[in-house]
Amino acid sequence: MNFELTEEQKLIQQAAKDFAEKEALLDVIERDEKAIYPTHHIRRMKELGFFGMTVDPKYDGGGMDTLSYVLVLEELSKHDASLAVILSVHNSLACWGIENFGSEQQKEKFLRPLARGEKIGAFLLSEPEAGSDASHQKTLAEDKGDYYLLNGIKNWITSANTADIYLVIAQTYPELKHKGINAFIVDRHSEGITLGPHENKMGMRSSDTHSVMFNNVKVPKENRIGPDGFGFKFAMMCLEVGRIGIAAQALGIAEGAYMRALKYSKERKAFGVPICQHQAIAFKLAEMATKIESAKLLVYKAATYKDEHKPFGLLSAMAKKYCSDIAMEITTEAVQIHGGYGYVKEYHVERLFREAKLTQIYEGTSEIQNIIISRAILTD
Ligand code: CAA
Repeated sequence: MNFELTEEQKLIQQAAKDFAEKEALLDVIERDEKAIYPTHHIRRMKELGFFGMTVDPKYDGGGMDTLSYVLVLEELSKHDASLAVILSVHNSLACWGIENFGSEQQKEKFLRPLARGEKIGAFLLSEPEAGSDASHQKTLAEDKGDYYLLNGIKNWITSANTADIYLVIAQTYPELKHKGINAFIVDRHSEGITLGPHENKMGMRSSDTHSVMFNNVKVPKENRIGPDGFGFKFAMMCLEVGRIGIAAQALGIAEGAYMRALKYSKERKAFGVPICQHQAIAFKLAEMATKIESAKLLVYKAATYKDEHKPFGLLSAMAKKYCSDIAMEITTEAVQIHGGYGYVKEYHVERLFREAKLTQIYEGTSEIQNIIISRAILTD
């Protein structure tokens, strides 16, 4: 096993670190407070090549491996996880889905602009009554011959307003249940698409989240991904990749909270000594550091397995569950170590705490990851 990063991986990691520390961090509190979309940072991340970074260069992508991508999401999330979720949905779900299952025509038309960062992608699976139970799709895609007619509502859609290209999961043959589901590439500006209000979220407030309504939206037949009825498997496979991204994000949030707690504990004095010299704090820090190291090994292994074309679905579920759970624990302890200062915005840990919570919820809750993990180990 090789635990060393390559020179190329170190370079992209450093680029993400510099950007996060010197640019994103500067206005993160204001963007979080006022729920401001990070337009200028998105532009910079495009220049840095973070959008489409794992797409094959033959489709204008960066051709980087999944571990490099994980390193970028991790560095961003130490300071601003909203940027990481925009990137994660774009790269792991939209780009990966089209690159791996789209037709050549779809790749030419939709993947190239996504890979160049000219357009942003979104993934529309969740519905008011189909969150964890993803096969329960109520959005209908009626086959009308040379086009599909979309009707329904999607919920909690990251980049709903700012994306140009939607990947929409919808039911074509309700009697076939999950086998009747299809996936489509939909132009966000199509007639009949309207958005709900901007969601006033607890965390990740700088990313743009809305519900999306489809009212008789025509989707050309050639925009269906894969064979008829392939949509549910397609969504599940995209989510296997997506969960590596969310795990990396949760890991970065945990590290961001830990490094701030460590620094604060060396500076803050109580009972005549820096608080890190009290065993109550030192042991908390020891637990945090150990959990971070374990989480890192898990998500890096999932990324490496994906790059080596080995089965990685079980590892991505484990990484997503473990990283998000320890992110919640570590951010809670980081607030505790900061005492009253942890409860105000200037020290960042209360924001990281709010951001950590979402990583236990989206792209499958921790409970859903346990379903995936237990099914896999019990049928092995
Ligand atoms: N790869 C390929 N095929 C898969 C698969 C995978 N990873 N997982 C399931 N399948 C296939 C199964 O083999 C089965 O196929 P057959 O019928 O041919 O045998 C079929 O799909 C149905 O599988 P299950 O019986 O396992 O399906 P289920 O209904 O029990 O659901 C589940 C399984 C894991 C709970 C799934 O519903 C799930 O992942 N739920 C969570 C959904 C989720 O993560 N939503 C997040 C929304 S996206 C988001 O958050 C993006 C954002 O904006 C941030």
